[in-house]
Amino acid sequence: MVLTAQQIEQFDRDGYLFFPGHFSTAEVAKLTDEVPRIYEQRRPENIREKDSNAVRTNFAAHMYSEPFARLGRHPRMVSPVRQLFGEEVYMHQFKINGKSAFDGDIWQWHQDYGTWYNDDQMPEPRAMNIAIFLDEVTEFNGPLMFIPGSHKLGVIDAGHDLTTTSYPLWTIDNDTIRKLVARGGMVAPKGPAGSMIMFHSCLVHASGSNLSPFNRVSVYLSLCAVSNHIRRFKRPGYIAHRDFAPIRCLADDCLLTEAPVDLPWGKGTPADELQPMLSAA
Ligand code: SIN
Ligand code: MN
Repeated sequence: MVLTAQQIEQFDRDGYLFFPGHFSTAEVAKLTDEVPRIYEQRRPENIREKDSNAVRTNFAAHMYSEPFARLGRHPRMVSPVRQLFGEEVYMHQFKINGKSAFDGDIWQWHQDYGTWYNDDQMPEPRAMNIAIFLDEVTEFNGPLMFIPGSHKLGVIDAGHDLTTTSYPLWTIDNDTIRKLVARGGMVAPKGPAGSMIMFHSCLVHASGSNLSPFNRVSVYLSLCAVSNHIRRFKRPGYIAHRDFAPIRCLADDCLLTEAPVDLPWGKGTPADELQPMLSAA
């Protein structure tokens, strides 16, 4: 998959590209079938919502689940990012966000690079976010919202919010959001399961709670240019990965053929990946 000059221009202007139906129904089924098995496990990689047992986010499934290990090496997801960065990429973060029916809580307004800079000492915003919808995303089930063009402003002042939800986040205040929206408006890409969004790590985004009876499971993969790897290991390795080896892609049909993959954490997460490592990266 190769981005056209027009897509590159659009990404530069808006900070995101939307690819509706990028993965087929059969490919998505290989992934969704696996989610309940991952979410039912009692492991540190499953962060549950503040007021319920529902999984808010699951980390690093590509290290212990075959279908997600394939997705993490999928050329339809990796190639456009490599093209934009002009170099190899590694997996900085891998999440399956539940946003489950009735219980899915908000994600406050933020930029991902704010966290990667403040917590992980990632030198530049040369890491890309990919969202892949495992359920249809509608106006009802808490779609991801963007402020187009906000990535052009670089890192915006943020405060560390440790209380609003079960997951700490560097969040942007309401006055700033009001000004950014007055300038750039808001969008919320909606589409069928299998759709993919590629978005800049400085693009300001958020999502509301899911009061609908429909789940909104999405995978978020963050691919970082290898030369831009993180310099500090303040967060556990399953949240901010420490293996900077370039992703080696599988074939385009790998999800359907069930191409063989290694599962380095298949027998459990290594103890040193469960905690910060405070010596230099
Ligand atoms: C995120 O910003 O990391 C997640 C947002 C969402 O799942 O809606
Ligand atoms: Mn985010």
